[in-house]
Amino acid sequence: MPPPPIRRIVVDAPHQPVEAPPLNGHVPAAKRARPRSSGQGPQRMRTEALTIAYGEKVAVNNVSLPVFQGEVLALIGPSGCGKTTLLRSLNRLVELTPGAARGGKIALDDADVDGIEVTTLRRQISMVFQQPNPFPMSIFDNVAYALREQGSRRVKRAALEAPVREALTRAGLWDEVKDDLDRPALRMSGGQQQRLCIARALAARPEVLLLDEPCSALDPRSTTIIEELILDLREELAVVIVTHNLQQAYRIADRVAFMFLGELVEYGPAEEVFERPQHTRTADYVGGVFG
Ligand SMILES: Nc1ncnc2c1ncn2[C@@H]1O[C@H](COP(=O)(O)OP(=O)(O)O)[C@@H](O)[C@H]1O
Ligand SMILES: [Mg+2]
Repeated sequence: MPPPPIRRIVVDAPHQPVEAPPLNGHVPAAKRARPRSSGQGPQRMRTEALTIAYGEKVAVNNVSLPVFQGEVLALIGPSGCGKTTLLRSLNRLVELTPGAARGGKIALDDADVDGIEVTTLRRQISMVFQQPNPFPMSIFDNVAYALREQGSRRVKRAALEAPVREALTRAGLWDEVKDDLDRPALRMSGGQQQRLCIARALAARPEVLLLDEPCSALDPRSTTIIEELILDLREELAVVIVTHNLQQAYRIADRVAFMFLGELVEYGPAEEVFERPQHTRTADYVGGVFG
C-alpha cells in the first residue's frame, strides 16, 4: 500500500529551527544523550481553540497546538490538567465519554477530523494506553487483527506473515517473539505486552501515534527500549506522548507543551521549555529537576 499523501496546510508563520540555548554554566540534571531529530517534517495535525468539557467541568480550555511529523511532542503538566483529554480528543475517543462536549477544531492534514469516518480516523491516528491491553489471543493474532480489519475477513495467515513481522520488527519485539508467535499475548512480560500494543498500533500504518504514559507501568529496562523505539518512529510519523516523567520528556521530546488547569501555558522546543521557560508556572513545574 503506498503511504498516505502528504498534504501541507498553511501555517501562520514558517517554522524557524531553533538552536539549543546556551547552558549558562549549568549542566542540566538529565542531559540528553540521544540523537536529535533529523528535522521537522510537515504539520500533520492542529487543534484550533480546542475546548473540552465533561458536563460543567472544563478539562481543556482554548488550546491551539500543532503536531509535526519528524518530532516527538510531549504533553506535560500536573495530574488532572487535561493531558489525557487532549490526547484522546485527537482521534475522537473523547466523544465516547457520556457528557463530554467539544468546541473548536481538530485537523488531520487539512481535513477536519469530524469529516473523517471514525474507524478510518483511528487507524490514521492510533493510540497506546498506560496499561498494556493486548487482546486475549496469540501474539501473531494481536498484530494480524489490525491487518485483518483493514481488508477482507478471510485473509490467509501466509499473506499476513510479512506485515506482522514488519510491525513486530518496528516495535522492537521481533527477535524476542519470532519463535513463539502462537503464544498467548497475556503471558508476555509487561514491557513486551506494551511493545506488542505498539506493534498492533503500527500495523494499521498510522500517520500519528498517540501514547498516554506508555511506560508508567513498566520497569526501567522496558522503558528504555520503548524510549529508543519512539525516537526511531518519529522519523516516519508524528508522535504525541503524555508523560508525567519530566526526565523522560527531556530525553525524548523535541517539543513540549506544558498544560495547567486545562490551559496550554507554554509550548516550544524541549530545551527552551526545560532550560529557559518563559512562564513562572512552567518554571515552577520543571524547576528543581533541570534548573
Ligand atoms: N470521564 C470523565 N468524566 C468527568 N470528568 C473527567 C473525566 N475524565 C477526566 N475528567 C476530568 O477532567 C480533568 C482532566 O483530566 P485528564 O484529561 O485525565 O487529566 P490528566 O491526563 O492531565 O491527568 C480532570 O479534572 C478530570 O477529573
Ligand atoms: Mg492522564
